[in-house]
Amino acid sequence: MQARTHHCGELRKTHVNQTVALAGWVNKYRDHGGVIFIDLRDRNGITQLVFRPTNEQLHETANRLRNEDVIWVQGNCIAREEGMANPKLETGDIEIEATSLEILNKSDTPPFTPDEAAKVGEETRLRYRYIDLRQKRMQQILKTRHRVTKIMRDYFDSNEFLEIETPFLCKSTPEGARDFLVPSRLQESSFYALPQSPQLFKQILMVAGLEKYFQIARCFRDEDPRADRQAEFTQLDVEMSFVNQDEVMDSIECLTRDIWKQVLDVDVPKIDRMTYAEAINRFGSDRPDLRFGMELVDISDLASQTDFKVFKGAIDDGGIVKAICVPGGASMSRKETDKLAEWVKQFGVGGMPVTKIDGGKLATGIAKFLEPITEQLIEKMGAKDGDLICFGVDKKSTIVHRVLGELRVKVARQLNMIEPGQWKWLWVVDFPLVEWNEENNRFDSLHHPFTAPNPEDMHLMDTDPGKVRSLAYDIILNGSELGGGSIRIHDKETQSKVFSLLGISKEDAAVKFGFLLDALRFGAPPHGGIALGLDRLIMHLENTTNIRDVIAFPKTQNGADLMTQAPSLVDQAQLQELHLRLAPSLKVDAIKE
Ligand code: AMO
Repeated sequence: MQARTHHCGELRKTHVNQTVALAGWVNKYRDHGGVIFIDLRDRNGITQLVFRPTNEQLHETANRLRNEDVIWVQGNCIAREEGMANPKLETGDIEIEATSLEILNKSDTPPFTPDEAAKVGEETRLRYRYIDLRQKRMQQILKTRHRVTKIMRDYFDSNEFLEIETPFLCKSTPEGARDFLVPSRLQESSFYALPQSPQLFKQILMVAGLEKYFQIARCFRDEDPRADRQAEFTQLDVEMSFVNQDEVMDSIECLTRDIWKQVLDVDVPKIDRMTYAEAINRFGSDRPDLRFGMELVDISDLASQTDFKVFKGAIDDGGIVKAICVPGGASMSRKETDKLAEWVKQFGVGGMPVTKIDGGKLATGIAKFLEPITEQLIEKMGAKDGDLICFGVDKKSTIVHRVLGELRVKVARQLNMIEPGQWKWLWVVDFPLVEWNEENNRFDSLHHPFTAPNPEDMHLMDTDPGKVRSLAYDIILNGSELGGGSIRIHDKETQSKVFSLLGISKEDAAVKFGFLLDALRFGAPPHGGIALGLDRLIMHLENTTNIRDVIAFPKTQNGADLMTQAPSLVDQAQLQELHLRLAPSLKVDAIKE
């Protein structure tokens, strides 16, 4: 094919009278009384082509064009006639009077055109992802993604970080989620695991003396995908030696400042910090959404003055009663509040009492129980007429916080309380090092087992480990966890101590993390780092709530790539080479012969 002179989004009035050559896809075909108009599209934009019947042969070829055909065209750039300009199109002042046309490739009738993508189901879009990605919106997102990784690389390069790749075929050392396993051909019965994150390698790079590392790293976690979670996702992964928490956090703040400024022209302010304890106490969540109010208020003292059995029972059991005040929430119908009360049950409560404020009084079934505390309650909650108070009651404060924390976000969305265009950043710090896992009767790390305990709390390690704070920090944006990191343990004794606190035996630790414990023996510098979810970051910048929108080839809810049909059956011979046999309970015809 012959060369192009311009892209389809480029031509303006200043190009009038020039001969130009463009190439791209037929976006739209229109025949206006014999004059054929084609909207030609490439990744840069759209330009209108005109084919007049006067050039018979050319007109006839143009007449055969259909949506998504790929063509090359040459012609004269002319100004559109008076009143025919299209202000919605960047190139809307001009059109190309075609003089030559080459059909580079005909397209079958596509299952949908890029313009129709919004109207077809996501499954169809994912199956024909190459058509879906022709949408301007999708290309815009991928351009933003490219731009952001470029800003990241520039930022770290100018701050003397090195971009270093770490392996995909790793040892299985679960970081919390389930591993994806890869059977080894050369060593039968052995498996690699795909990395859940480069955590241990980046720490080893610090032991190796590389001092400042970053990587735009693919991570794999075999967990069920959600709106903001994929099994295969990308992190901006960072590690630094000889640093404290503030230095890591400052460095990431500067980076986010660069990104938001360059991509959105938005200034990121100095980001506030909040302790984990305060976040849970006020917002019921370690990733509080600060774009709206409805803070949790502890009313246990008032609750204990009533004869309301639900309140009394919980408090007598050592529990608490907290509440949120939903402004204007009294407009919700009984059916709607019942639905909410049903919804919160998934977080472990038996139900959720609510009451409305009407004429300075409480107005629902439970109002009579709350009579002795009505005035104080209204005052404490800062409630007004027309508001709704929802109570979280349980013998466990963790459940009360979880219920009201989740409810707060749900109600804010449901009642459109979140004003668009806000950027509410927050660092959450002082996480507990471990939390008690009742099901398994042991302590689990809140971040991961390599997180350093706060030296001020070391004296509690043996006596009250649940009270030990860690040197971990999460960066939160609009209620979503954008990233998390910590200062790491850099001495073998503390690391062994934390393993033992987590119930990892010496033998297990040696098998799973022996290489780390070894490395810590040979001159490990103090170090710390962080990882940001790149996909989530792009979701914020591009204002989408669907993580699949920001990944070129994402997986569906059940882990499938609908375009390539992965995962798929494999040959018997492949299995044999890997020393694998499918369980007899699986049908033999599930194996490709
Ligand atoms: P963590 O597990 O908190 O930390 O992950 C860091 C960030 O990665 C993003 N993220 C995800 N994004 C999409 N899909 C997923 N399944 C997914 N899981 C996590 C989130 C999260 O905040 N090694 C540590 C980091 C460190 O300590 O330096 C780690 O991986 O935005």
